[in-house]
Parts: sequence; C-alpha cells; structure tokens
Amino acid sequence: MLKTPKTKRIALVGMMGSGKTKVAKNIAKWLGWNFIDTDEIIEKKMGMTIKEIFKKIGEKYFRELEKQVLKEVLEIENCVISTGGGMILFDINRELLKKKAKTYFLEASIDTLKSRLDISNRPLLLNEDVSKVLLKIWKERERFYKEFESIETDGLSVNEDSMKVILKFLESETEEDSNDFEAFNLFHPIRFGLGRLKKYIENVLEKNDEVFFIVSKRVHKLISEYFKDHSKLIVEDGEQLKNFDELKYLYDFLLKHHASRNSTIIGVGGGTVTDVVGFVAATFKRGCKVVFIPTTLLAQVDAAIGGKNAVNFGKVKNIVGTFKMPNDVYIDPSLTLSMDDGRFEEGLVEALKMTVIEGEKFELFENIESDEIRRVDFLYKITEFSALKKLEIVEKDPYDRNVRRFLNFGHTIGHAFESTYSITHGQAVAIGMIAETKIGVELKITDEKLLEKLRNILKKIISLPKVRTTDEVINKILNDKKNTGQKINMVIPKTFGDLKIKSFTIDELEKLIKWEN
Ligand SMILES: NC(=O)c1ccc[n+]([C@@H]2O[C@H](COP(=O)([O-])OP(=O)(O)OC[C@H]3O[C@@H](n4cnc5c(N)ncnc54)[C@H](O)[C@@H]3O)[C@@H](O)[C@H]2O)c1
Repeated sequence: MLKTPKTKRIALVGMMGSGKTKVAKNIAKWLGWNFIDTDEIIEKKMGMTIKEIFKKIGEKYFRELEKQVLKEVLEIENCVISTGGGMILFDINRELLKKKAKTYFLEASIDTLKSRLDISNRPLLLNEDVSKVLLKIWKERERFYKEFESIETDGLSVNEDSMKVILKFLESETEEDSNDFEAFNLFHPIRFGLGRLKKYIENVLEKNDEVFFIVSKRVHKLISEYFKDHSKLIVEDGEQLKNFDELKYLYDFLLKHHASRNSTIIGVGGGTVTDVVGFVAATFKRGCKVVFIPTTLLAQVDAAIGGKNAVNFGKVKNIVGTFKMPNDVYIDPSLTLSMDDGRFEEGLVEALKMTVIEGEKFELFENIESDEIRRVDFLYKITEFSALKKLEIVEKDPYDRNVRRFLNFGHTIGHAFESTYSITHGQAVAIGMIAETKIGVELKITDEKLLEKLRNILKKIISLPKVRTTDEVINKILNDKKNTGQKINMVIPKTFGDLKIKSFTIDELEKLIKWEN
C-alpha cells in the first residue's frame, strides 16, 4: 500500500513546451497533493504577466523573485511544483531543488517541444524561427537540466509522461524499503506493489534460470529500461494479437531461444498479452511456467487473474483456450496511470461490477469524485479488492460452472449493445449492468436503491453514450437462442452481494428489455 512518502515534494524542470504544467497537474491529482506553478505565483504576486514583468521591470528582478518564490514553495509539504524554464540557471535554485524535492527533468527533442508549444501564447516566439530559438536556449541550459534525473517524453502522451514520473518517484521511495511485496497466495499467487517493478523482475530472474519476456510494444516504450538485457519479444498488442498467425511468432521465439518446460515466460501488457502468453505457456512443450505483469486496469482486476486464457478463431472471440494458473502475478496499479481514458474506464467498470457481486467496498466508488478516479491510493484499493475477489470466485469455481458465471453481470445485454453501436466494451458493460438491474427492478427482484446507486456511480466513472434498445439490439440478445427455443440466462442482482442467475423465455425478455437509456 502507498505508505506516507519520505519525500514531501516533487518538482519538474524542463524547457518551455516540455509539458511541466500538465504533467505536474496530473501527478498532483493522482497523489492527492497540491499543484504549484512558480510562474503563476509570481504573476499573482506582481499582478502582471511574466511578459509584462520582463518588459517593465526587467529580467534581473524577475529572476530574484523566482529565487524567493522557489525557496517559499519548497517549504510546503505534499506538493508538485512546475518550475519556470529558466529556474535552473542559478546554482542556488538547483541546489535547493535537489535538497528539498525529488526533481525530474522532462526531456524532449526540439521537434517535440516545438509541436507542443502554443506559439500564440508566446509572443517572444511569434516572429522567430522557433526551432532556432529553442536550440539556442537548449545549448545554454542543457548541462543544468542534466543534473537532474531525466524522463524521456518524446512521442508520449501527457498521461504517459506523468506515469513515468510517478513510477520513478515511487521507485525512489521504496529503494531502501526491505519489506517484501504484499503477497497473497490463494489459488495462485498475486503480489501488489507500488514502484517495485524493478525489484520484482530482479527477484524473478534470481529465482528462475531461463526467463523470457513477452512485452506489449506500447508498454515497452514506457518502461524499456526494465527489460534491457533480457531475452524479450516485443509484440503489437490488441485483439489482433489473439490469433493463430501471431501465436506462431511467439512459439518461434521460444524455439529459437531453446525455451524448455522449466522456462518462465513473463507476459507484460494488457489482457490481450496475458491471454496470449497464458495460452502459449499452457501449450508450448505441454506447459511451462508463466508470470503475468498486467499493465491495464482491466488486466489487473480481471484478465490476468484466474488462469483462464483464450485466443480468437475466425470471427469468434475467445473460442480456443486453456485453463492454466499463472505461477505468479505482479500488480502495480501505478502502471495503469498512462492509459487513455476509454480503456481506463473499462477497468473501472469491471472493478465496480466486482463490488456489486461481492457486496463489499461499494463505498470506495461512492466516495470518490470523478476527477479523483486515478488517485493512486484509490486504484490500489480497487485493484487489490477486485483481483483478490476474482481469485476467490475462481477458487470456488475453477471451471466456470457455478458462481464464476456471476462475473457475466452486465455482459449479456452489454455485448448486444457493443456489437450494434460504436461504443467501448466498458460503456457496453455499464449499459448492460444498468439494463440487467432494471429488469430486476421491474420484476420486483431487485432493490431499487441498487439501480439508483449504480447509475450515480457509473455517471462519475464513465461517459455513458445515448443509445436505445433498437430491434437490432434485441435481436442480437435473442438471436442464437431463437431457433433452438432455448431460454436466456441473465445475471440479476437482488442487492449488493446477492445475485441470481435467472432464465427467461424469449417472449418474457423481449418485453422487459424495451427501454431507453
Ligand atoms: N482471460 C480472462 O479471464 C479475461 C478476462 C477479461 C478480459 N480478457 C481479455 O482481455 C482483453 C482486453 O484486455 P485489455 O483491455 O487490457 O486490452 P489490450 O491488451 O488490448 O490493452 C488495451 C490497450 O491498452 C494499451 N496499454 C496496455 N498497457 C498500457 C499502459 N500501462 N499504459 C497505456 N496503454 C497501455 C495497449 O497497448 C492497448 O492499446 C480481451 O481480449 C479480453 O478477451 C480476458
């Protein structure tokens, strides 16, 4: 769990356009700390813009003010400070930044800086050759910036830059911490840690002779230093990875490197990577050891847990698969901070679903504000809860015959919406959860308060699209059962922690699902 950090401040330095302000705002929000911008404080103090101070009073005066403000803000605890680009020009400022904060240099190429700068807000650059000006400034300042730990930001999004800083910060916080990871050993082990990935990988390498990493390309771009000297295959993740042509590359890689049944294959990435790596580990030489380091929220709360894996065949998703329990799963919730909003929300919906199934921890979602959903402490709690609960369910029903079917809550109706509208899987499951709960309310099975609470929470954690239950949606729900006269099973929650599987005839369901969102 996130302990009280020893370092009370994070500061960012870097050229104009390096993204200091946006990244600092993200980090402050995610740690629950205050955001401070030294330029903003100076402008407020003086009642003038920086440009006006330069013009009317002069740069020398501004630099003195800057020193004074830095000294003041470096006394404030639990804050993330975005510094002015020239702050590092003075020895006294650099010394203070090193002594009083964890300071990171956001590094970017001149082209990246130029592309990120809004020239209209920078009158000094308006009629200039921007690249030339930036290069000149860079040459003057490079040696000063490089006194600080560098975070490469080229080609990355603001969320990705922010995650890299947080990971480095958490890593530095745990450097001397000798405690082991928070580990749980149920049906298969799961470990949780924050900023301990490096240590975890060292641990696995120490305990196993032949280790092969299969890493998502996008994730590798963010944390390549962890896999530098190891046998690795970098894969383009996403649904297209889960097909037989792609599997061949993985088997080829293992064969080429003489992997054996004693080898450990480590899958690093989202659910598509853990599914494929699980499948390969189950089948290569009739099974070798497998470890997952899930990096999406969905994979941390769901896909990497429970030993089920599958690949797609033809047009059918997850139709060929195996059950193979991982030998270990390492979850660091801070790794997911770099995700885009849509995919991130999907993971949140799955975690929320788990609280409904278990009837516990629902208040975590009730108490969180929509701009706090990437809070590291919140993420830690929901991933820990969801992953362990999923494992408990799997332990009770390893082969999907009983309670594990509750995990389908929201999916029967959700899938039909997903294949009708261009909406995300998370949005579809959210709609499905509301729709299936609503059916329960109409049948007087479900506590109405549950529906109201679910709606309020989903509004906070995901942008729900305006969709309708058209004939096409209804047909999709009923389709495969229509010809056989089979009944349709659906998970209906009575209240938190009390769900049932109810069978409907086609006629019954047709009447019930006519509703508008
Ligand atoms: N086996 C199971 O029990 C189980 C359960 C649920 C889902 N699944 C499977 O999981 C898959 C979906 O998982 P997913 O949503 O993780 O998909 P994914 O693996 O395609 O990842 C989604 C996207 O996130 C990116 N990404 C991964 N880690 C990131 C990070 N740290 N920062 C930024 N971007 C990152 C990926 O590059 C990708 O573009 C589906 O194929 C589904 O069938 C399996």
